[in-house]
Amino acid sequence: MVNTYPFDPLTPDEILAAVSILRGSKKVQESMRFVAIHLHEPNKQSVLDYELVGVCKRQIFFVILDRADGKTYEAVVSITEEKISSFKYIPGVQPSLIVDEFFDCEQIVKNEPQVRAALQKRGVTDFSLVMVEPGSAGYYGDPIELERRLCRSIILIRQDTADNFYAHPVEGLLILVDLNERKVVRVEDHGLIPIPEEQANYTTNSVKEFRQGLKPLNIVQPEGPSFTVDGWKVKWQKWQFRVGFTPREGLVLYTVGYEDNGRVRPIIYRASLAEMTVPYGHPDPGQRYKNAFDVGEYGIGMLTNSLELGCDCLGEIYYFDVVLVDTQGQSYSLPHAVCMHEEDYGLLWKHKDWRTEQTEVRRSRRLVVSSIATLGNYDYGFYWYFYQDGSIEYEIKLTGIVSTGAVFPGEVTRYGTMLNNQLYATNHQHFFCMRLDMMVDGLNNSVIEVHNVSEPMGPDNPFGNAFYPHKTVLRNEQEAQQLIDPLSGRYWQIINPGSRNKVGQPVSYNLIPGENVQTFLHPNAPVLSRAKYMTRHLWVTPYHFAEKFPVGDYPNQHPGGDGLVKWTEKNRSIEDTDVVLWYVMGHNHIPRLEDWPVMPVTTINFHLKPSGFFDQNPALDVPPTDYCHPIRSY
Ligand code: CU
Repeated sequence: MVNTYPFDPLTPDEILAAVSILRGSKKVQESMRFVAIHLHEPNKQSVLDYELVGVCKRQIFFVILDRADGKTYEAVVSITEEKISSFKYIPGVQPSLIVDEFFDCEQIVKNEPQVRAALQKRGVTDFSLVMVEPGSAGYYGDPIELERRLCRSIILIRQDTADNFYAHPVEGLLILVDLNERKVVRVEDHGLIPIPEEQANYTTNSVKEFRQGLKPLNIVQPEGPSFTVDGWKVKWQKWQFRVGFTPREGLVLYTVGYEDNGRVRPIIYRASLAEMTVPYGHPDPGQRYKNAFDVGEYGIGMLTNSLELGCDCLGEIYYFDVVLVDTQGQSYSLPHAVCMHEEDYGLLWKHKDWRTEQTEVRRSRRLVVSSIATLGNYDYGFYWYFYQDGSIEYEIKLTGIVSTGAVFPGEVTRYGTMLNNQLYATNHQHFFCMRLDMMVDGLNNSVIEVHNVSEPMGPDNPFGNAFYPHKTVLRNEQEAQQLIDPLSGRYWQIINPGSRNKVGQPVSYNLIPGENVQTFLHPNAPVLSRAKYMTRHLWVTPYHFAEKFPVGDYPNQHPGGDGLVKWTEKNRSIEDTDVVLWYVMGHNHIPRLEDWPVMPVTTINFHLKPSGFFDQNPALDVPPTDYCHPIRSY
């Protein structure tokens, strides 16, 4: 397969060529590491023109860290023109943490005499069973956080090589490491709380007896799946889109459209999870720094799993393999990074005419495109669902192991859930920020806030039963900073004022919130100033090619004020223009005993549903299933 489409992920050959061009230029020194290498996405117009002209420049974007002096550089290399398009020093930023640094950090911490002494005080003598969790350092107003490249580590202990170390946290011991100088710069020991000893294991070998009674459940599609794949382009049941993947965001979808009367009507230009933040709610020193920005500080693409048939995915699966790059610029394959399959989804629609007893019923099927990333203790599944009625759902499945802390035996804490008489799982929230670059029937869209209101009782509403959806056009970025309002049934409509349906209304898609919650961080909390996006559930911006991440390009150790909060100060117009929606959803996690030692999947989602986009139920033409014969079989 030759990669030519503008969004197609990078190939090993392209990466090799670009790295060679950079190294050949002598701009890249031995001490430099490639933090990120990904497709430099072409501008929107050239992508949209591509179908006509068939030409688009291929370029690769690099973030480079010089570990000798801590300087960060950005480079763009043109594969098409075989040259460096730009190479610039980016002052005052810290790029995301890199895998080399995780390994470094563990060794540095374990070799530090102060750390060893602190562990010995707690009875730990076998340092091979010491686990160092390298956490992003964040920013709390300490000048060191602006001067050095840091990692704030906590320590957990295994009792043997297969033991779940989250059951044995070393509470109150925090180690700050300078990742460039490769040395410990501060050991904070906040007091000697005994390390919880009770084991909590979940692996196959640790389960004494498995339950009985499960008969085989096979998904069989004897004629194969109903989708077609051409490179990274997918067609299924009138849907068309392209799959992409970046080291930062992981799974990305491009140019999502639906075929309607022989014409593919665009809906989304680009969709991704652009950031997520997991702030923990315990004030103690060992807990209060926990707040990973997993997209911007780590990169969920880099930490994506290779999926296994029959385990992660069941049925007739199509896998997309992706190419990632290590910090030396060597590409490697991540097989089965994205999984795609069809699922039976129960009822699509049904009606029984009780007079004639004629029943019409259709079964629903959905196309699932997904990937799973492991981010420290947590595992997240990211699922896009396409339905035959023109709707799209995005769902995140949260599983893995809850983050823990310890108290003196018999103590309790309100900031966590006790798991045994010493161990607790800390209260926390997961906030996810979706970047939805919409193009409903074209680039020029507007966004409308909708909530329901009751008509006052009076001569025109004598029974007090009248109600209607109240609609407000969001004219600018400030008006578009919205919260959910489940009691009024609030949702947001993305309309195309220039495209009308059969009743003369602008065509639209509704963004419908699922589970959501507010942040419980204090307005002055340092982490909130870095993650202001969490204070609203909806933001809308006019499209700008450089506005990709809600907390800015470099959230690691950033003091805050970048991204959405900065851009929207301009209060630009968002009416009848190319808009980007940023939908923020929060999952409040007060851990349960049942979340331990490994957490059953919990989900959070939202829907995009056509609303006057089609002139009638677009799934009317879904045929009845062969084995279901309506009235004709009676
Ligand atoms: Cu959680």
